Amino acid sequence: MRKNIVAGNWKMNKNLQEGVELAKELNEALKGKTINCDVVIGTPFIHLAAVANNVDSNLVGVAAQNCANKASGAYTGEVSAEMVASTGAKYVILGHSERRAYYHETAEILKEKVGLALANGLTPIFCIGEVLEERESEKHFDVVKSQIVDSLFELSAEDFGKIVLAYEPVWAIGTGKTASSDQAQEMHAFIRKTLVEKYGNEVADNTSILYGGSANADNAIELFSNPDVDGGLIGGASLSVDKFMPVIEAF
Ligand code: PGA
Repeated sequence: MRKNIVAGNWKMNKNLQEGVELAKELNEALKGKTINCDVVIGTPFIHLAAVANNVDSNLVGVAAQNCANKASGAYTGEVSAEMVASTGAKYVILGHSERRAYYHETAEILKEKVGLALANGLTPIFCIGEVLEERESEKHFDVVKSQIVDSLFELSAEDFGKIVLAYEPVWAIGTGKTASSDQAQEMHAFIRKTLVEKYGNEVADNTSILYGGSANADNAIELFSNPDVDGGLIGGASLSVDKFMPVIEAF
């Protein structure tokens, strides 16, 4: 059966010392507790190795927030999937709406990134989600379906089985405006149906679909109680243990 996952996305926050401190604190807080989900933290590149060295990998998985769409070579400033994997990170967040919007990551570029992540043994946490205008004009299902089809549906069933999806309505990210529990469930069920049509019941049932967008201690229990919501991708509320632990414990 699919896993429940609570993944933090630190975005561009915390210097190295602050990040290592936060990771250690989280590791301490998780020790000896019964936790009913996998816990992941998505850190800036420069934190990855130090964070991976300072947490128990059985308690905390480490994720990059991006990787290059090229394997290696003359791409100044880029970080490859192989480099990410060599730090001890096991996951990579790909296709976040901020990367799509500010760094012009297209479906094609994301397809390349997903392929390289998988080839290097990383689990992609692949983000999808509509902007407000698309929801208001009732295009949200089509938009989300296209994002999945265009970047992921050339994968074999075996490779698709290694992907985690994160539905993040862009209008809910960092705005304090969470999707309602019903809106989240409705979209997650639609996503799962889309996966059934392409890959069949087994792959669809085994795919974890996380919700992201202003998820926090106040709404996590309700969001996670939905049958198709398998966890969260948590931005703001992952930046302190006090705020992040209650989200983890919502399972
Ligand atoms: P937020 O961010 O929880 O701060 O809304 C979520 C995300 O962008 O992954």
